[in-house]
Amino acid sequence: MNDTAEYYRDEQVILLLGDALEVLRTQPAGSVDCIVTSPPYFGLRDYGTEGQYGLEATPAEYVETMRRLFAEARRVLADDGTLWLNLGDSYAYPPGSAGRQGDGQRRDRTFTAEGLRGTNVLPAKNLLGIPWRTAFALQDDGWILRNEIIWSKPNAMPEPVRDRLSTRHEHLFLFSKSQRYHFDLDAIREQALPHNQQHQERYGDRYDPRYAAPGTRHGKDKSTLRKAASPAGRNPGDVWSISTRPYPAAHFAVFPIDLPLRCIKAGCKSGGTVLDPFSGSGTTGAAARQLGRRYIGIDLKPAYHDLAKERFAQGVLDFDATA
Ligand SMILES: C[S@@+](CC[C@H](N)C(=O)[O-])C[C@H]1O[C@@H](n2cnc3c(N)ncnc32)[C@H](O)[C@@H]1O
Repeated sequence: MNDTAEYYRDEQVILLLGDALEVLRTQPAGSVDCIVTSPPYFGLRDYGTEGQYGLEATPAEYVETMRRLFAEARRVLADDGTLWLNLGDSYAYPPGSAGRQGDGQRRDRTFTAEGLRGTNVLPAKNLLGIPWRTAFALQDDGWILRNEIIWSKPNAMPEPVRDRLSTRHEHLFLFSKSQRYHFDLDAIREQALPHNQQHQERYGDRYDPRYAAPGTRHGKDKSTLRKAASPAGRNPGDVWSISTRPYPAAHFAVFPIDLPLRCIKAGCKSGGTVLDPFSGSGTTGAAARQLGRRYIGIDLKPAYHDLAKERFAQGVLDFDATA
């Protein structure tokens, strides 16, 4: 542990101050069980801090930054650990022009207005595909990509665009370090709607032959399917509908606590340690505390760690999950 980086510590939480990559280099190998994080998105926000990520000149440079960072995070992650990486996309904007988010203050997390900086890599108006560019690079580096989860936002802010559809989602990628890893599906199962359950039991094997027992025809043996349709509830699937929630104290986008809550329930063993290398106002930390996990948060900006400390001091009520 690098003592100079330590900004705050209590029984459950350690907040470390500094550049995420530098600080990660000081952390022991295999010392965290789960990483849940939302890095600065490409070209969308100026956090006003020297050394901040997200203002690289091109998507390729941004991907390189993320790649170096997550290679180090991979070393710090236990072999059976998971990484939950939230990323939003951005659009190419004419070089030299400032986008509509030039004040760096937009609080909505639907980052669809053209970006803060230009990029001359693609013609203006192009959706850059940053989440997938990053995901492919991480795969190349050995991460196993297990899910592309669409975070759908029912209350996304309207956008002043007339020549394309407005964006109402972000990506959440689930990566593992190894083939076998801790994943507690039961902890995040959801109540099946009665008619869906019946429908699945009757027709599930038509959609997925694995549900049909060997040697049976469709609809004859439902035992395998019944096992898949657990009485504990159904698999929540890879589209998560979670409303954004304004957090007035932060002048930047925080993710709703329901998001890290679900990731941690499934991805972090009981009593384990969750890491967020881009801690911001500490939403991941608040979720970890609520679920009885330890938390290590890294951020460049002391003011954000102060916000996190305030949130932690308020206890869990302020962060109750709605989903
Ligand atoms: C999208 S915000 C994270 C918000 C967080 N999920 C929350 O709910 O509050 C990204 C964070 O990354 C931090 N950041 C930017 N560059 C960084 C760097 N090089 N090292 C560490 N933190 C950095 C910013 O200060 C900001 O707090």
